[in-house]
Amino acid sequence: MDTSFPNSSWLALGLVVVLAIVVPRAEAQGRAFFVFGDSLVDNGNNDYLVTTARADSPPYGIDYPTHRATGRFSNGLNIPDIISEQMGAESTLPYLSPQLTGERLLVGANFASAGIGVLNDTGIQFLNIIRISKQLEYFQQYQTRLSGLIGAGATQLRVNQALVLITLGGNDFVNNYFLVPFSARSRQFSLPDYVRYVISEYRKVLLRLYELGARRVLVTGTGPLGCVPAELAQRSRTGECAVELQRAASLFNPQLIDMISGINSEIGANVFVAVNAMQMHMDFISDPQAYGFVTSKIACCGQGPYNGIGLCTVLSNLCPNRNIYAFWDPFHPTERANRIIVQQIMTGSSKYMNPMNLSTIMALDSRT
Ligand SMILES: *[C@@H]1O[C@H](CO)[C@@H](O)[C@H](O)[C@H]1NC(C)=O
Ligand SMILES: *[C@@H]1O[C@H](CO)[C@@H](O)[C@H](O)[C@H]1NC(C)=O
Repeated sequence: MDTSFPNSSWLALGLVVVLAIVVPRAEAQGRAFFVFGDSLVDNGNNDYLVTTARADSPPYGIDYPTHRATGRFSNGLNIPDIISEQMGAESTLPYLSPQLTGERLLVGANFASAGIGVLNDTGIQFLNIIRISKQLEYFQQYQTRLSGLIGAGATQLRVNQALVLITLGGNDFVNNYFLVPFSARSRQFSLPDYVRYVISEYRKVLLRLYELGARRVLVTGTGPLGCVPAELAQRSRTGECAVELQRAASLFNPQLIDMISGINSEIGANVFVAVNAMQMHMDFISDPQAYGFVTSKIACCGQGPYNGIGLCTVLSNLCPNRNIYAFWDPFHPTERANRIIVQQIMTGSSKYMNPMNLSTIMALDSRT
């Protein structure tokens, strides 16, 4: 080997080594990711709680890398996992996981809890779940803990530069307004008034997230609530999507987009990004074959009509090939469907992502 390097090269090399050492650990770990919301994004918090809303036993997780049930409501990965994958990061840990300590805090955290909604009275039948105000409290507690590791200034920077995902609202209809006939909320509000109320409360949640330092927040609307196997089984004779729940989703989603663009113009920045989950799901629900699915009506795991009744358990029907089903259980998409959704989050047009998609966000933010 040629040992006659000019001195300047050695100097430059030395400089590079020194720079590599002083780069804060936070940056070396890439961008942090924080997740809030319900079962569509919970990755195991409810495993630690006394609740009936849980996915910690087989066949949940059958296609997860470990083939174990983790608390994700999926046969494999869920939407936050696939977003992490796209960011080149490891999945965030559930906030309640005892493993979420030390350097792992730098990756971010998942605060989501299956069963919750925007409103505090949503999901009360599930007993002990982490309501959204508590998730936000935990976010604050998380920041105190991270400050102990890297200091307050670096913590704030890391939170400001993070990507945030929040998925809420579906349960305010499915597990509240429409849970039983003549529910308390449906006696209190007409559907359009209820939607306006939920949106006004959601707005407060988003403003609180902003106060807590979030500066890039993906906000998903609800999916097509009336088209999930559970609702087809309970409310549909002919396999058409259930009308009242579809009406709820079609009132809720446009108002969510308006509310978000209102907040952004008040703030004067595109902090919040509306994810049109309704449209993303409708693509493969209206033409499942075009996406490689044999059905978008029958859940892979469940029982009764459309496999839409009750819970997915070891006693349920289970499809042999999860890749050809859009729905894993009566309410939740398969990993394969989640991948289609995240693809639209990454590169979708304004029909799916407002005001911009995640690949645009990542390109923008990598410049600052
Ligand atoms: C929900 O509960 C939290 C915590 O108890 C409270 O701060 C908040 O105001 C409640 N929200 C509504 C809409 O009642
Ligand atoms: C979304 O991402 C793609 C790149 O994958 C880009 O070409 C397109 O313009 C973006 N659309 C919007 C609305 O930002």
